[in-house]
Formats: sequence, C-alpha cells, structure tokens
Amino acid sequence: MIDHTLKDLESLSRAVENGWGLPVVSYSDSDWFAREQAAIFDRGWYYVGTVHRLKEPGDVILGHAGRIPVVVTKSRDGALHAVINVCRHRGHPVCQKDGNHRLLSCPYHGWTYELDGRLRGAPGSEAERDFDKSEFSLTSLRLEIWGPMVFVSPDPETTPLAEHFPDFREIATKRDFNLDPDADTHHRRYESTAKANWKIWYDNTLECFHCPHVHGTSFNDAYAVEQGDYECLIRDRVVSYYFPPKPQRAANQLQVTWNKHLHLFPGFFVTQQDDIMLVHQMRVIDPGTTHVIWDILAEDDADPDRVEGWCKIWEDTLVEDKIAVEAVHNNISAQTFTANRYMAAHEPVPQNINRWILEAITALDTRHAAE
Ligand code: FES
Ligand SMILES: [Fe+2]
Repeated sequence: MIDHTLKDLESLSRAVENGWGLPVVSYSDSDWFAREQAAIFDRGWYYVGTVHRLKEPGDVILGHAGRIPVVVTKSRDGALHAVINVCRHRGHPVCQKDGNHRLLSCPYHGWTYELDGRLRGAPGSEAERDFDKSEFSLTSLRLEIWGPMVFVSPDPETTPLAEHFPDFREIATKRDFNLDPDADTHHRRYESTAKANWKIWYDNTLECFHCPHVHGTSFNDAYAVEQGDYECLIRDRVVSYYFPPKPQRAANQLQVTWNKHLHLFPGFFVTQQDDIMLVHQMRVIDPGTTHVIWDILAEDDADPDRVEGWCKIWEDTLVEDKIAVEAVHNNISAQTFTANRYMAAHEPVPQNINRWILEAITALDTRHAAE
C-alpha cells in the first residue's frame, strides 16, 4: 500500500491537482526522503551568505549547497571560490568556522589547502610513492553572485541561476528589488532548527494563510496580511509576494511602506522592506529535521532602533513558525490522516510546491530510466 502510494507519481499528481497534499507517509519515509534529496536537493542553487562577509583576502564563510558542506573563500587575488568542506585525506571538515584564514587547515591530520582549494601540504606524503598533490585539491563547486547574495550549486552540471529560474530576474525587476551590494551591510544571522519535515516548514514559509493567526502580535502589526490585501505571483519554481502596509499606524511603530519577497525553489527567499533586507535559506537535515538561516541586512543610514525592532519581530516570527510546524509534524508523523487538503484560493503556493516536488522526482526517474 505504502510502496504503491509512493511510486505512483501520476496518481499523486492527480491528487495534487485536486487540492490534496502528498501522502503524509512521505513526510517521514526514508526512501521517499532519499528520492527528494537526489531529485531536489542535489541540484539547484543555495544561498550561503553575503559578499559583505567576503571583503578581504582570506575571508571564509561556511554553508551548505543542498546536503553538501561548502566553504566559500576569497583568495589573495580577490577571486571567490566555493569548495566542498571535506578533506581529501579522510573526510574531516577542513574549515570549522567563518572568519579570516591564511589557509584551510584540516585539524584531523594536518593537511593544508590554499584558499582556492589546491592541496598545499600533506604530512607523511613525502614517504608515499606516486603521491601527486595536484590530484588532491578540494572539490570545486559552481558559485554565483546575485546582488549581495552568494549562491553555490552542488551540481556541476547545473545551469546558471538565470537559466535555472527563467522568470526570476523579470520578477525581481518588476518588484524593483534593490540589489546594489553597496546599499546594505550584513547585520545579523539567525539560525533555527525545527523538528519538522521540510515540506511542512516550506509550506509554512511560502503561504500567508496562517499569518493573521500565528503572527498576530509580530509582523501582522505592520503589514496587511489578510487574504486579498497582498499580491502573490507564482511562476515556474518562483514565488513573489508584495505586502502593502496596514492603513492604520502600527502599534509598535515599526510600520513599513512596502514589503516584497522573492522565493526560489527549494528554500531560498529574499525580503526587502524600506531600508532592511532579510535573506533566508532552508536546509534539510533528515526527514524530521529542518534547519534555516536568516541573514538580516540593513542600509548604513537605517535607524538602528528600527533595525533592532525588526530583528526582534523576525526572531519572534521564527519561534512562532517553529512552534506551529513542530506541532503539525507530530500529528503528520502519527499518520492519523492521509494527506493535507489545501484551500486552492488561499494556499495556491503549497499546491505548487507539491507539484514541483513531483515534477522533480518524475524527472529524476525519467533520467534513471534512460540510463
Ligand atoms: S582527514 Fe584531513 S588531514 Fe586527515
Ligand atoms: Fe509564518
């Protein structure tokens, strides 16, 4: 029964078109999770940080491209590099923390790498026959910059960001995003781990049906988040929201003049409102664990009290969302019902997420069948 449910992609697609979610078993099943990893998270582009943290030669930031741990570096010649954070000796991470580093030094047995990933020193290798250092560089990954944001792909065959999401630049232009890397500086990073399947977290991130209920005392005070107040654009694996301000003055004095979002599947979004920007990336850990990073950027002349006020609102938002998705995960894991039933008029985005998941898995199956 379970195997049939999970394998029959066509019937799942029909259910999704009729407003149903994927079977709840797909929120905990390890085989299905492995298919999602291969079909979705081993491809595409993932945000790792901003160029503001890669200003000086030797600056290094850590992150993930899907499930792949990565190090992004700025080498002495000013070039940016993305390499897999896995030592070519025996697999220990070569870099443990962000900062400024002369070299990437593996703490396990002392192999050292240049900032571009070339192996520099391998203790004991002098005694090895036929040991060629040039064969043991860290594995390079593709990197792209969009505005102040650095993206890395785990897939060497991936298409550039603009081809991967053919509509996203047009939408960013329509929304009039300010992408000047000199306009903002990095202010703070929040991280949060939810004990919830990524699909629950992701649905929650991309719909605002829950906003008036869950975020009543946080950003609900500043934006108009009732259905019909805001605009939602959906294209191929791209979603964009535009929230106008509430007509009445916000009680907490943190009213915005506008708030706009751009989401790229799976798990990236950027929000801009006045002089503050928020960049988010989701990472899946296992079927029941999802990690998120949120970077807050602010223009240099932004009012520090207002920026701090908004940081507090988003921190509260993260907690409110985490409580909601963990509660849902507990019930979905218990499999007391078969599938979500989305409200098409209010939740078109989760329906599309389910569609995109099935499309990715179908494409993977098709590739495998052709091999
Ligand atoms: S695993 Fe890195 S030096 Fe041994
Ligand atoms: Fe939320």
